Amino acid sequence: MTSSYQSGFGNEFATEALPGTLPEGRNSPQRVAHGLYAEQLSGTAFTAPRHSNRRSWLYRIRPAAMHQPFALLDDGAFHNRFEELPATPNQLRWNPVPLPVVATDFLDGLFTLAGNGSAAAQTGIGIHVYAANQSMQGRFFYDADAELLIVPQHGRLRIATELGVLDVEPQEIAVIPRGIRFRVELIDGSARGYVCENFGAALRLPDLGPIGSNGLANARDFLTPVAAFEEDEGDFELVAKFQGRLWTAAIAHSPLDVVGWHGNYAPYKYDLRRFNTIGSISYDHPDPSIFTVLTSPSDTPGTANLDFVIFPPRWLVAQDTFRPPWFHRNIASEFMGLIAGVYDAKAEGFLPGGASLHNSMTGHGPDADTFDKASTANLAQPHVIVDTMAFMFETRAVIRPVRQALAAETLQRDYFQCWQGLRKNFKPA
Ligand SMILES: [Fe+2]
Repeated sequence: MTSSYQSGFGNEFATEALPGTLPEGRNSPQRVAHGLYAEQLSGTAFTAPRHSNRRSWLYRIRPAAMHQPFALLDDGAFHNRFEELPATPNQLRWNPVPLPVVATDFLDGLFTLAGNGSAAAQTGIGIHVYAANQSMQGRFFYDADAELLIVPQHGRLRIATELGVLDVEPQEIAVIPRGIRFRVELIDGSARGYVCENFGAALRLPDLGPIGSNGLANARDFLTPVAAFEEDEGDFELVAKFQGRLWTAAIAHSPLDVVGWHGNYAPYKYDLRRFNTIGSISYDHPDPSIFTVLTSPSDTPGTANLDFVIFPPRWLVAQDTFRPPWFHRNIASEFMGLIAGVYDAKAEGFLPGGASLHNSMTGHGPDADTFDKASTANLAQPHVIVDTMAFMFETRAVIRPVRQALAAETLQRDYFQCWQGLRKNFKPA
């Protein structure tokens, strides 16, 4: 299976790997071409409003119903037990998770850091990192609980899905809608990155308001795979994530057997380097909502279940302004990761592959070194930030670290020290 794409966000796509596969004028003819089965995959309620309705029709060698019964797997490091410990108001930061030394595929290599809400409540997110050194072999996975936002930091991934193949590299993201079966292969022999499970409404492009009809992530830069299928038979495994637990079933064929499909419920990828970054050309650093790539709205207008926000290369030109991100406390909770380079609010300690968490109303902002430098910078000069890509999973609900994340050797237990060097500069007149 190889990758090839069609462009656009949430389009009504139509693609076939064998000519003549897609029926014309109907979805479920009496007999499908090439002896295929027709199957609908719906990602929203049948009666969801048209603009948010998502479903696709799949024409496949065998229907998804064909597998042995599922059995519960023992709990591993990938889970949704966000209530294990009291939520903490402490500022938290982690070093990158080390690459594994024993054989570990993408699924084995998932390690849960934090989350909120649940699959049952259909709201909230799960935050995980992955580190792997082998491709998934003879096993396939789907997440019934959540849409998956995959953010590679090291190593390219080939994500072979029912609907086609996505090749993603660091500084690109992939989104796999809930329920879609896939296998992750490692193109470079090892891989590390971040995964956000979105239990809420599907990610979509944010409204642009006064920005106008272009800007931020442009719809035409989103890529969805064309149909691709395999006809493999053997002793394979299908792993399902269902209501926070992993289940396993034997399956005697590859479920990646969709020969053609049409619809608007499909995986996609996006190159973060295509983001049209907008900022201040007069004074002040705008709120980071200006950097939103994708958003999962909640039932409260303007208050997201999940915002995926990036901090890409950009010019800083604002006058009479402290140019880096300011000190702040927010109602929202912020999990950050670093894909490449250095983040402009931290001089050191926030490493590519690492992570930080600042929960609701927890004070944070530039470290002492960054504050000193930015407070005395020559503002007559524009400043260009290059070779960097940080991101944020921002949510309306408090993010709860799980036990293994707070016990991990990667947790920086001295993170709070980065603000202790801020001097008292107060001089009453
Ligand atoms: Fe923040």
